[in-house]
Parts: sequence; structure tokens; C-alpha cells
Amino acid sequence: MDAVSPALRPRRSCLAVPGSSTKMMEKAQGLPADQVFLDLEDAVAPGAKEGARKNIVAALNTGDWTGKTRVVRVNDLTTKWTYRDVIEVVEGAGANLDCVMLPKVQSAEQVHWLDVLLTQIETTMGFEVGRIGIEAQIENAIGLINAKDIAFASDRIETVIFGPADFLASIQMRTTVVGGLISEYPGDPYHHILMSILLAARAKGVQAIDGPFLQIRDVDAFREVAGRSAALGFDGKWVLHPGQVDAANEVYSPRQEDYDWAELVLDAYAHYTSPEGGLLGAAMIGDEMIDEASRKMALVIAAKGRAAGMARTKKFEPPPD
Ligand code: GLV
Ligand code: MG
Repeated sequence: MDAVSPALRPRRSCLAVPGSSTKMMEKAQGLPADQVFLDLEDAVAPGAKEGARKNIVAALNTGDWTGKTRVVRVNDLTTKWTYRDVIEVVEGAGANLDCVMLPKVQSAEQVHWLDVLLTQIETTMGFEVGRIGIEAQIENAIGLINAKDIAFASDRIETVIFGPADFLASIQMRTTVVGGLISEYPGDPYHHILMSILLAARAKGVQAIDGPFLQIRDVDAFREVAGRSAALGFDGKWVLHPGQVDAANEVYSPRQEDYDWAELVLDAYAHYTSPEGGLLGAAMIGDEMIDEASRKMALVIAAKGRAAGMARTKKFEPPPD
């Protein structure tokens, strides 16, 4: 399996929208986010949750979400709300919903629970069984320890997501700026956490998504934090404000020079491994040696660039005989 399945939808920017706000759900439809998730969890007060379910069903059924992955975040399984969240939203708008996001996931069993419930609802409603995906949000120590089992718990899993605010509370990291570096710590305090989530996601062949950055007016700081998870290989990040959307789309798209390199390697490698190119396993482009592993790296970058609608600016010319 390639590192990132090109079949998966791009999720460079995943816009969080409270299900209690019909106005924000309307506005979200006009923003260039790859994904929108309508929230029933922490952005909605306990007393507003039942009304929010109804708002979300209406928004999914009547809104124009063209080009966006449509996700609903339900409440986590330690609450009383989860089963009704899933039943009301999926029965009411399952045909217009791509994924259910399960926050604070602790174990594979919790994912199984959601998988079975979705299958029962899809069967009852006459929806295609298995079409609705699951996004698993890792937000505590036990969830991270079980991240691999969570990623492998169901073929519905499409993403493994980092939930930094809850996670920092869970492990008691000493900071109040979610995602920011910590002056007393001589390194990146998120490296292990992000890498563990990335490895769990990639082992299963699904996407890895970084969580929110709460200083929403500081777009430069957002870019810096996003740039770190993008550099590791993450596919996208949550956005909480329209000002963060373009930045996320840019940061999680390949750089132009990397995209050009990828397309060039794919063309060059196809040429050199063909009879016309000499059936070579390894070849040179300029000063760089390329082989099958270079092709695999290039495939990942090319898939992301194509999904982002990028255009190449360099063409491969086979050398004259
Ligand atoms: C998101 O849910 C977070 O806790 O950061
Ligand atoms: Mg959270």
C-alpha cells in the first residue's frame, strides 16, 4: 500500500463549526476548507446539545457542502449523549454525511461500538453499509498507548487525529499555549505524540490530522505550528477561524519545488526502467540518483499535489542517445 492512499479525500484544512450555531454552519459552506466538521462535543454547551443535533441534521440536508468532506463530531463514550448523537444524526442525515468523528477514543472496543451502531443504522435506513467513515481523535494517554489498535479497529477508519488541548490536560504538560513550544524544554514537546499518531495512521494506510491552534488571530504562529506537523508528514490540521483556512491549505500542500521534483522523478523513472531507457533500476537526474524508493517518495508527493490541484512547471526530457 502506498503511504497515503490517493483515494482518500484531501483534508489539509478541517474546519470546526459548533452545531449550536446555524449562522456559523451557513458561513462555513462558503469557506475553502477541505473538510467541515459540525461539532456536538466540546464547542456545544450541555444544555444546547439536543438542539444542536437538529441544527446539524438540517444543515447537512439543506446546505451546499460541495467539495467538502462532511463530518460530525459526536460526544465521547464516557458521556450519556453519544448513542443519541449517532442515531439522530445518521438516521436524519446519513445520506449527506461522510464521517463520524469519535473524540477521546481510548480503545479499539470504542471504535467497534461505533462501527456496529453505524452498520445497524445503515441497514435499517437502507443506506449503503460501510460508506460512512470514522475519524478517531486521540486526546489522552490511554488513547495514545492504544493508537495502533484504534487505527486498525475498523475499515471505516479514515483518519487518526491529535486533540492537543485535551491531551495536554491528560498528561499534565506544563503549558497554556496549545501547540506552542515550551521555553524550559529544549526540544519539541509534541514530537513523540505526533510521531506516534502518524505511525499508527500510516501503518493502517489512513490520514494523520493535527488538531487545533487556539491563538486564532496569530496566523504566523499557526503556520509555524502547522509547518512542524506538515514536515513530519501530517495531511492536515484543524482550523477554528476563516483566517486559518488558506494557511492550512498552503502549509499541507507540497511546496512547488517538491511537486515538480516528484512529477519529474515519476516520468524519469518510468523512462529509465523501460526498454527505451535501458531497463535501469537506478538512474541519475542531474546530480541525484533515483531508484524504486525515490519513486515511492515521489508518488506520495505527486498524489498530494494533484489532489491540491497543483500544476507542474518542469518537464522531463529524455537525454539524447
Ligand atoms: C480538540 O478537541 C482538543 O482537545 O485539542
Ligand atoms: Mg478535545
